[in-house]
Amino acid sequence: MSIRSKRKEEHLVLAQTFFQSEKANSFDQLHLLRPALPETKVDLAAIKTTMFGKEINAPFFINAMTGGSPKSLTINKELGKIANQTKMGLALGSASILVKEHAQLDSFLVAREANPDGVIIANVNAKTAPKDAQKIVDELQADALQIHLNTVQEIAMPEGERDFHWLDNLKNLRQEITVPIIIKEVGFGLDQATIRLLKNEGFEWFDVAGSGGTNFAQIENARNQNDLSYLEDLGLPTVIAAMMAQKEEVNLIVSGGVRNPLDVFKGLCLGGQYVGISNVFLQAMEQNSPEFLLQMIQNWQHELAGLLAIYGQKDLTNLTSIKQYFDLPLQDLIMQLS
Ligand code: FNR
Repeated sequence: MSIRSKRKEEHLVLAQTFFQSEKANSFDQLHLLRPALPETKVDLAAIKTTMFGKEINAPFFINAMTGGSPKSLTINKELGKIANQTKMGLALGSASILVKEHAQLDSFLVAREANPDGVIIANVNAKTAPKDAQKIVDELQADALQIHLNTVQEIAMPEGERDFHWLDNLKNLRQEITVPIIIKEVGFGLDQATIRLLKNEGFEWFDVAGSGGTNFAQIENARNQNDLSYLEDLGLPTVIAAMMAQKEEVNLIVSGGVRNPLDVFKGLCLGGQYVGISNVFLQAMEQNSPEFLLQMIQNWQHELAGLLAIYGQKDLTNLTSIKQYFDLPLQDLIMQLS
């Protein structure tokens, strides 16, 4: 197995080792004011929406994880089937490996084959050449392309990148890629200044991928001889990252540490057009079965419709107007960063 495939397999093992389903995070410190008499009813049609021009059943999706290794192939095939059955978006893990190891294509393509008409989002790193990224988009018939910014992860990674001059390549990618581009982090959060900088370069979609869930400093540190555990606290909590990002009036995706349908709902109330979930879904499948994950996602769709009814909403159009209030530690951080 190549070093890149082996790394993905190690990430999968460690993502499971460190997974804590109930870990507290910034979503716990955000609250929403609820009308006691909402005059609504639970309606699955209320959460239906579109994603990159295709209809989806709910505004949450499976965010980038796997591809490029044997275990990834099995996982992507199952995730593709589930995305198809639940009519939800699916982002695949970084396909930059295909530039050097094209034989790994099948481990990504299985998801598209299992979900021929649904939303598939490809993912590459920020230094992938535009022609290579476009080839990946074409081969996967991707509806959008995520580009991940992951400096903390790279530094924590023993074999990681050490040169972060990425902007010129990002500008070239923006000019040449034919599908919408989403700039995302990998669990340390996008800051407002970076979003503004990239917005000024013409980028439109941003997934904050904040801290509170999967911690790649922790995962990489377990693969590293040196102790870099101090990097684990560098993340910007998802709720704060989303609030700052919202000020830039960009197309926003909220992700990082989403554990349940209430976190999804809060992500939408923070201005997310979609909410992304990675490890919670992966572990539901890995620690149980694909059938378990399928049922869980169907439950989440019903429960999200239930939350809309509780909060007096008939559809997804007005969620940012719901009154939000915060526990003091979070409020303090928000004030310091505003
Ligand atoms: C990831 N993530 C990720 N992100 C990315 O942009 N490209 C990738 O290849 C991967 N690979 C990957 C593998 C595994 C096993 C996990 C768990 C995660 C990061 C992911 O998309 C997300 O940003 C973070 O995991 C935070 O979300 P959760 O896990 O807290 O919901």
